[in-house]
Amino acid sequence: MYSVRNISDDLVYIGCDDRRCGIFEGVYSVPRGMSYNSYVLNDEKKVIFDTADKAVTEKYIENVIHALNGSKPDYIAVTHAEPDHSASLAALLRLYPDTEVICSAKAAAVIGQFYGGNIRFKTVADNEVVSMGRHSLRFISAPMVHWPEVMVIYDETDKTLFSADAFGSFGALSGALFADEVDFSRDILSEARRYYCNIVGKYGLQVQSLLKKASALEINTICPLHGHVWRRDIDTIIEKYSRWSSYEPEDKEVLIAYASVYGNTENAAEILSRMLFERGVKAVMRDVSVDSNDIFIAEAFRCAALVFAAPTYNAGIFVRMEEVLRDIAAHGIRKRSCALIENGSWAPVSAKQMTDILSSCKEMTFTGTVTLKSALTEAQLAELEKLADDIVASLKE
Ligand code: FEO
Repeated sequence: MYSVRNISDDLVYIGCDDRRCGIFEGVYSVPRGMSYNSYVLNDEKKVIFDTADKAVTEKYIENVIHALNGSKPDYIAVTHAEPDHSASLAALLRLYPDTEVICSAKAAAVIGQFYGGNIRFKTVADNEVVSMGRHSLRFISAPMVHWPEVMVIYDETDKTLFSADAFGSFGALSGALFADEVDFSRDILSEARRYYCNIVGKYGLQVQSLLKKASALEINTICPLHGHVWRRDIDTIIEKYSRWSSYEPEDKEVLIAYASVYGNTENAAEILSRMLFERGVKAVMRDVSVDSNDIFIAEAFRCAALVFAAPTYNAGIFVRMEEVLRDIAAHGIRKRSCALIENGSWAPVSAKQMTDILSSCKEMTFTGTVTLKSALTEAQLAELEKLADDIVASLKE
């Protein structure tokens, strides 16, 4: 049975949840599932905005048929050609073979690569406006948010922004379509952050460019490809995107990412965490052998100071810590203070190698290193106290 919801008199949400997705893009754990958002505009011309992942095609097609109420779509507007949004395109075009796919030239090329020929394209240029009757749709290039072919679409009539992957979140909607129907800060923000930092975090400059274009528009509603539709308090999500994309931390807190084979490095990390709390600074401890990389990436974007504590392993960095560090660096993190704790029973080298990886990031400062030889000694407590002082000082800079 179809499940659709009106956003306005002529705009209908036709997306679908997949609560059994498990792993999104083969990488990201999504315990609360995913939503694949799509919309139908019922104007003189009928427009479908993007499609949905292949996991939900059958349910999605039911929604399309219901929302069109016996009509055929004139256009499928593609903001983003990635298969989590385009995989149902072929099924839709088999049902409606005369429908044109309206998108950027780059999107047409990518769609051709994925789904072959025999698709009727109407390609649009940056800032081109296409009238659908009452509604005029402006197509605006947003390259690398999150692929190069992306265009967002601004409905000039109702002031709705179809924002592609931008402003989305992990998590199924489960009926709560609008962000104002949930407690966003309490229940959704962490998943919106984890989604942004991991999916688009590397492309902060390009997101800034989109935000600049968006700031020139009056926006009443944001319709993203994942997560909730924004119709109130839009500044909430815009402010978060502005912060994340400029790599400014959200909280003056400390992420302590640690690896520990026998518990001794963990012990030092925990004592450092306690010392930070004693100084009135919140810290969060995360074990690289327990948590996945995406958790560390999101926390690194959130926290102003980072501590990495790891043993030496095979004359290098403990393997999970090296993976985490390289992934954090690959996502373009910058503007953070970093402190290190290394451990090595005979030849500690992990601090130097961790420094090498972090030095590839821009605008990082290093607050200090504590070296353990197997286990923390009483005499070294003063070194940890000094490290805690220096971390706290870095938060005030
Ligand atoms: Fe939701 Fe970049 O695809």
